[in-house]
Amino acid sequence: MNILILGSGGREHSLAWAVMQNPKCDKLIVAPGNAGIAKIADCADFDINDGGEVVSFAAANAIDFVIVGPEAPLANGVADRLREAGVLVFGPSKEAARLEASKSFTKEICDAANAPTAGYGHFTDAQAAKDHILAKGAPIVVKADGLAAGKGVIVAMDEDTALAAIDDMFGGAFGGAGAEVVIEEFMEGEEASYFILCDGKTALPIGTAQDHKRVGEGDTGPNTGGMGAYSPAPVLTDEIAQKAIDEIVQPTIDEMARRGSPYQGVLYVGLMIKDGQPRLVEYNVRFGDPECQVLMMRLGAQALDLMQAAAEERLHETSVNWADDHAITVVMAANGYPGAYEKGSVIGDLDSLTEDSKNMVFHAGTTAKDGQVTATGGRVLNVTARGASLSEARDRAYAMVDQIAWPEGFYRKDIGWRAL
Ligand code: AMP
Ligand code: GLY
Repeated sequence: MNILILGSGGREHSLAWAVMQNPKCDKLIVAPGNAGIAKIADCADFDINDGGEVVSFAAANAIDFVIVGPEAPLANGVADRLREAGVLVFGPSKEAARLEASKSFTKEICDAANAPTAGYGHFTDAQAAKDHILAKGAPIVVKADGLAAGKGVIVAMDEDTALAAIDDMFGGAFGGAGAEVVIEEFMEGEEASYFILCDGKTALPIGTAQDHKRVGEGDTGPNTGGMGAYSPAPVLTDEIAQKAIDEIVQPTIDEMARRGSPYQGVLYVGLMIKDGQPRLVEYNVRFGDPECQVLMMRLGAQALDLMQAAAEERLHETSVNWADDHAITVVMAANGYPGAYEKGSVIGDLDSLTEDSKNMVFHAGTTAKDGQVTATGGRVLNVTARGASLSEARDRAYAMVDQIAWPEGFYRKDIGWRAL
């Protein structure tokens, strides 16, 4: 099988790493890829958000299966173009990708599916939004309706912050994404993510994870794309996970199918858990980054079989073989991230690290230059390990971090603290 993965982050490096271990994979191309991916697969450069270009590339390279990493190509309809061209693809249609691309659409689906989530109001007018905030009071959560690269959510602990968020959003701070807002009830509890493969009908859970969104130790400081993650998430007990499937995930899949836009791909289910009850915080229509890295570390080669089964609408025939193990990933980021940071610093000593089924350094924002690996993103490396316990996995990951020579980078020393 000739496989094309779209994306360039640690998520795509871990997908490539898992796919390469499967004997079904004859050839793997990743577009655009990064320095770490280039060591295990071919990389190609074209516009992955342009369905026409992706279809042409797939035809020219005899691609049998396309795995879409990030949300932007999905929201642009790249999976639709591939399906129309007869290419097997893992990832939802443009219409189904609205579960991430529009917060109000997700709320509408939750209403129709009777899925537990935060109460909300949907506004296209700033004054009406402000009146709603003043009527409800703080804490309250203000969300830009559209895709805003993870920055469109303001959890406001006081009314002034919420009102300022309305001014920002209607003032164009998030471009078109903020012309509509959803204002939600603030939910308390512990967050966890549940990853479900879907083929339009069947839901196949493939793992739970928790990430650390804040930049600082003890979960303090500004939000980031994620500074580390671990799997499984102890808060998602079997009982709560089953509730999430029965009350949230399956009703969503059924509602999407009923509307004629079946959901196919991975559904990233962000949950808030309190007193044994899960409620939906958000859906994403792709794997989380860095959550994917810990899931792939645990799944290995079978990830390809499962994604293929989802694309071929055969999930009901499949099952996941679990090792009773734990995985953790520590993100190394450029000094200054999530604010301004320098690009181009050299990362040393990566070659001396052992990389095997228990230890992997996935690259997120790197480029190979003159035989050296340089940092070209905010989140740069995902140092990932597997172990019989979370503490064993953590010790392995930090032992690798200690061997990497990169003074221009930093990392959190407490990844996994809640579960440990
Ligand atoms: P989202 O992009 O929707 O995942 O929101 C980003 C983060 O904001 C979530 O991971 C939560 O930590 C927080 N958040 C979002 N919605 C709520 C809510 N209704 N109540 C409390 N926290 C929320
Ligand atoms: N780690 C959070 C995300 O991928 O959205």
